[in-house]
Amino acid sequence: MTSRKISSATVMAAVAMLSMGPAFAKGPAPDPAVKDFQRVVDAAYARYKDLKEGKNADYIPILTETPSDLFGVVIVTKDGKVYSAGDVDYKFSIQSVSKPFTAALVMSQQSPEVLREKIGVEPTGMVFNSKLALAIYENSVNPLVNAGAIAAVSLVQATSEQDRWNKVQQNLSEFAGGPLTVLEKVYESEYTTAFGNRGIANLLYNWGRLYSDPEEALRVYTRQCSVGVSARDLGMMGATLANGGVNPLTRKQVMPAKHVPELLAVMATAGFYDESGDWMYTAGLPAKTGVGGGIVAVVPGRFAIAAFSPRLNEAGNSVRSLNAIRDIAGELGVGVFGANPN
Ligand code: DON
Repeated sequence: MTSRKISSATVMAAVAMLSMGPAFAKGPAPDPAVKDFQRVVDAAYARYKDLKEGKNADYIPILTETPSDLFGVVIVTKDGKVYSAGDVDYKFSIQSVSKPFTAALVMSQQSPEVLREKIGVEPTGMVFNSKLALAIYENSVNPLVNAGAIAAVSLVQATSEQDRWNKVQQNLSEFAGGPLTVLEKVYESEYTTAFGNRGIANLLYNWGRLYSDPEEALRVYTRQCSVGVSARDLGMMGATLANGGVNPLTRKQVMPAKHVPELLAVMATAGFYDESGDWMYTAGLPAKTGVGGGIVAVVPGRFAIAAFSPRLNEAGNSVRSLNAIRDIAGELGVGVFGANPN
């Protein structure tokens, strides 16, 4: 085409395009893996739905009553699209999957530095309720183990126990994009048997590493763990992290985008407790597990993969959920260190 043949309409179109700014101003490009999402979710569900390995947590008595065969798998994208299979709307207790989200609240209210100095960010390499790790360090060490999570609750800035709880609950709800409430029977069952966690809270207080009254911290922490969520809720919470702290449903900035990488780093190094190394080696995604059977993994900037199934392995991680999420991560090649052809 010669310059003489360029019409004024073409010139105007070119000027209009330039003034629109960069391409991303039109919104996120479609994720290249999207076409496979439903296929890999269905495949993982089918592959593991009959796996009976592991058993329900029983140190919180009521968790033995959750039907062991429940199983749900879901992908939630950063723009809120949901791809699911199985029991993704059954409400179970969030348990330790709550921990990174309250750590995020401490980061938001104060700073990542406060979390690092007043709790610590080293993985303990020990079980989630380890008294040995606590004794060795005289410190809670990491916000994703029980000690550090109780300390995180005690760091939430509040004027009373009720205010502290309200802030914790509101924060979890904002990550989920809708109201989350406590499963009261789970709370009763856990609080009336929380002798180990009470010991942990008291020791931390004795060492100056708990920042509220210990029994108050224990109560709020136990309520936090008793919050009811579905696999779909966990997916939304993870998708909020994938989306730079903005909830895909409400569009609210729930935590500062600049702190999401620090939070994901803690999830990557300690989200599976003493199995965190094996998890990162095989799945390559920051994630968090809970003894209720839930797990959420985050593909930064893209989507979350969540699953729920009550039977746990020795480390307290859901057997079907971890296998399903690991397979999906491998099949989509989304491990954060590079494509894992699995
Ligand atoms: O404090 C506890 O023991 C429980 N509320 C939470 C533990 C948990 O979920 C460990 N995760 N796999």
